[in-house]
Amino acid sequence: MNPVSFYLLTDTHYFENSLGAEGKAFDAYMQKEQYFMKESSAIVKSVFSRIAEDKETDIVIIPGDLTKNGEKESHISFLKELNKLKQSGKKIYIITAGHDYNEFSFAFKNDERIDVEAASFDELYDMYRDFGYADAVAFDKRTHSYIAQIADGVRMLAINCDSFGNPKGAADDELMSWMQEQLDTAKADNCSVFAICHYPIIPSVPVFDLVGDAKIKDWRKVAAFLADNGVELILTGHMHIQSINEFYSEKGNRLIDICTSCLVGSPAKYRKISVDENSVMKVESLDVDGFAADLNGVSAQEYFDRQFGDAIVCRVSGVLNGGKGIVKHLKKVGKKIFESITVGALGRLLFIKTDKSVKKMKLTDLVAKIGLAIFSGDQPFVEGTAEHDMIFRFLNRFSFVLKKVEPKLEKNGVKINLQKMILGTIANNKGYSDQNAEFVLK
Ligand SMILES: [Fe+2]
Ligand SMILES: [Fe+2]
Repeated sequence: MNPVSFYLLTDTHYFENSLGAEGKAFDAYMQKEQYFMKESSAIVKSVFSRIAEDKETDIVIIPGDLTKNGEKESHISFLKELNKLKQSGKKIYIITAGHDYNEFSFAFKNDERIDVEAASFDELYDMYRDFGYADAVAFDKRTHSYIAQIADGVRMLAINCDSFGNPKGAADDELMSWMQEQLDTAKADNCSVFAICHYPIIPSVPVFDLVGDAKIKDWRKVAAFLADNGVELILTGHMHIQSINEFYSEKGNRLIDICTSCLVGSPAKYRKISVDENSVMKVESLDVDGFAADLNGVSAQEYFDRQFGDAIVCRVSGVLNGGKGIVKHLKKVGKKIFESITVGALGRLLFIKTDKSVKKMKLTDLVAKIGLAIFSGDQPFVEGTAEHDMIFRFLNRFSFVLKKVEPKLEKNGVKINLQKMILGTIANNKGYSDQNAEFVLK
């Protein structure tokens, strides 16, 4: 690939605070939310101003979920920030996604949740036409996908699989044939192509292969299509996770999927990516910090992690609410145990040996720690760590359950090994980092 360099940030989930972000209903909502709503505008402003200062790189790419839930006012304010960044000399390329239109847009005022006006999908064209659409080589009106010449001999295929015009999270036949046409034209014009898409193409971690909305529909087919048509790199978001994955098609062609975290929630990263004249691609991950908000005396990273960690525990506890009769009773007991037990006590209950380094830890703290680590990338729980060994023993104890479940999860004849998937999700054994990595492209 010819030299190109750009900033990559995604899932900005920008919210216009004057719509309302306060009160009891807001506080209750935020208990379960991974990312910040009230602080999102300050975070975006701070990151944009840091990018504006960098005179080395003049391209900024944002693959979707620009606003919290498609509020019209959030779009208007976000566009003001985009225009400021553009005036600093940057070329900005975006795609929109499901959180940018027709969502159930809401805000919080006077202790209540209120409905607010959302943008329609069609309105997004006029709003964002100067951020990729207008000077595209080709634009697909139905999905707002496009292909743009972003450097000498380099085109960027922006795939919108989360539009109003096509099935959610899928590249349908019509979109696939439009992409084929664009890739053929690029080849004839002697251009290499990389792509962006809101949904990850390759599951970010092994267990996401089992989660419907965690990757594009028929991901193996789409990955092979891109790789076999010369697309070696795709930049994605949506899952709010830091990951880099490789896929090889049957013909031996590679696709690298770089999925980047939500900008306004833990792990709160963005990336700077550059490809040099020898086709060496360097991926650098940057922290979000220094934004104007009251962080209660903790570091920005801690502030983000606390929000997400507490939300993980709250969501797990939430699953143990409700039910009827005996189920309700069992759930209540389960919730009490989950919220109060230590890791060591749980081990004793299940006859599982636990290492002394985690024994005294509260189970809720361990669950939050593992959850945060999965979404941060470079998952540290490799063989030999207390967390890995405990989960390994736990999975062995319940292997009879896993063996019963696995055949039910099989799809298209692909065998499932839950133990391998779970252990692969808590440990990065890929041989490269999810944060800072180097690849030699074709
Ligand atoms: Fe998102
Ligand atoms: Fe999304």
